[in-house]
Amino acid sequence: MRQLFDVADTTQAEPLCAGAVLLRGFARALEVALLDGVREVVAQAPLRQMITPGGLRMSVAMTNCGSLGWINDRAGYRYAAFDPASGLPWPAIPAAFAALASDAAEPAGFANFNPDVCLISRYEAGTRLSLHQDRDERDYEQPIVSVSLGVGAMFLFGGLKRSDRTARLRLEHGDVVVWGGPARLRCHGVLPLETGSHPLTGAQRFNMTFRKAA
Ligand code: SIN
Ligand code: FE2
Repeated sequence: MRQLFDVADTTQAEPLCAGAVLLRGFARALEVALLDGVREVVAQAPLRQMITPGGLRMSVAMTNCGSLGWINDRAGYRYAAFDPASGLPWPAIPAAFAALASDAAEPAGFANFNPDVCLISRYEAGTRLSLHQDRDERDYEQPIVSVSLGVGAMFLFGGLKRSDRTARLRLEHGDVVVWGGPARLRCHGVLPLETGSHPLTGAQRFNMTFRKAA
């Protein structure tokens, strides 16, 4: 999409480590379309706090769009073609989401990224996401594209082992992080969201994580 390439041209890709880049403000030009898309998806597949296999309720509320969705419950973490809350297929990935994901992956060195999942996460004050790896996907050659909208958050970007040193990265509205290749299985997480406000999302932060799962 022409308009998105123009955005990409003006964004400075900040390398984080081999295989990972930060694209500051990359998604800002699409903020209205993205948040409209989030609202449309959430209307069909409501955000919910899932229960981990260990029996804990996650503080982050999640939903998905795409041909698969990432879920967890007492049976484990996995991808499913149907929303367990409704029994219906997940909503389709909105066109603006798909264009953004492939346009962000390209300057990071991952051409032709065509995600089949977008996991949408909602954070409110105090919501956190503990350090984890994204490893339920079939093909680790495909990157992860992570888009932040709304209230800023402190992102933790660690190493391949949980015990490795963890860098702290402040992610603001419109920032996109892409990690793949040698960084694909790096541990990452989010510190508890601070009380804040954003003109488009109020006190909330949304994260959209694009993956190729199948
Ligand atoms: C995730 O790891 O799924 C989300 C990360 C974030 O919210 O920035
Ligand atoms: Fe993740």
